[in-house]
Amino acid sequence: MTKIVLFENIHPSASEVFNSAGFTDIKTFPSALVGDELLNEVKDATVIGIRSRTQLEEKVLEHAQAARVVGCFCIGTNQVDLDYAMQKGVPVFNAPFSNTRSVAELVIAEAILLLRRIPEKNMRVHAGFWDKTAQGAFEARGKTLGIIGYGNIGSQVGTLAESMGMSVSFYDVEAKLPLGNAKSCASLAQLLADSDVVTLHVPGGAETENIINERTLAQMKKGAIVINASRGTVVDINALDAALESGHISGAALDVFPVEPKSVEEPLDSPLKGKDNVILTPHIGGSTQESQENIGREVAEKIVSYLQNGATKSAVNFPEISYLPSTGTQRIIHVHKNVPGTMAGLSNVLAEHGFNISGQQLQTRSEFGYAMTDVDKPITEPVLKALRALPGTLRCETLPL
Ligand code: NAI
Repeated sequence: MTKIVLFENIHPSASEVFNSAGFTDIKTFPSALVGDELLNEVKDATVIGIRSRTQLEEKVLEHAQAARVVGCFCIGTNQVDLDYAMQKGVPVFNAPFSNTRSVAELVIAEAILLLRRIPEKNMRVHAGFWDKTAQGAFEARGKTLGIIGYGNIGSQVGTLAESMGMSVSFYDVEAKLPLGNAKSCASLAQLLADSDVVTLHVPGGAETENIINERTLAQMKKGAIVINASRGTVVDINALDAALESGHISGAALDVFPVEPKSVEEPLDSPLKGKDNVILTPHIGGSTQESQENIGREVAEKIVSYLQNGATKSAVNFPEISYLPSTGTQRIIHVHKNVPGTMAGLSNVLAEHGFNISGQQLQTRSEFGYAMTDVDKPITEPVLKALRALPGTLRCETLPL
């Protein structure tokens, strides 16, 4: 029986996918578990579903003897010991793209609000002032949006911006196919000089640290707007603060920060708090009901596909094999160390027991290999035992007929 445990209030869309695929033994928990409570719940689970708070370190995975697959119903996978999971032959899946649209919509909304100076006007009305003026307020139509990082989110922002009549330029370190009428800029300096609104959609890390700094802010048009919903490290906050103070930059929206509070009670420490025409949000760019639902469905579908046909496409720690229709009666999945002779050993065991291989796929990833083999008749227990005894074997299973 396939036992599924889902921690941390994973969206019900995941259970819907499991149920409709016939996996009905599902236990859900509203929060993360730790210590013995966690060990108890994972010990006989085939599928472990978590979000960002459950720590699946080596000790927990070692205890989870029946685990065949882990689902991270979120973007990040740092909370799982991915190498150890690989050594146990357990693929880990996540949902890297389910909140793309949510981030893109927030960025568009912020661009419009900042162009109209709404954050400042909103604060003034709350404080009792009725400053009815068109001064410094602009339409988005006809303005240029400069996108730094034209990946999943950046390109989606560009598509939405064009539908409102904005001109879209982007700068990316990789060659990217422009969508719609978007224009690729040869240099970051060119993009900054041309744009009325600059939005960042790059990964974090040393390569992108402080892309927006005193020098690059000075390259922007006077009155430009800066939006960052990517990673907190990409904007030098003090330099942005100075540019807002001088009026060179007329507005900013930040959803991510170099250091973010760890709990709801902890206030954000930032010089930008209380500033005119600045929107500060608590890293909620991707946090919508729709994205949670999409994440539930996306990860559950990947897990079902793995359980039913062995597909590991987009697993974060595993050699990737896409869905392949069955070419035989039974499918065997074999996870092994990537050393010479393993595939020959597998074929020999099958041949010795009179099996014909009707289809086979192999993918390797550094020191690991993953083979999917279809044979012409059901595998018996002694054959499975012989396959598991092959040198270098980490895991061998047969999939349902
Ligand atoms: P992606 O990987 O699809 O796109 C990133 C793009 O940036 C790639 O095209 C890459 O070539 C480009 N790039 C890398 N270094 C660059 C550089 N130095 N200059 C210009 N371009 C560069 O990533 P995706 O999914 O679009 O995510 C973008 C960012 O948004 C990530 O940092 C991610 O962590 C963040 N994010 C934030 C969320 C929020 O809640 N605020 C939610 C989801 C993602």
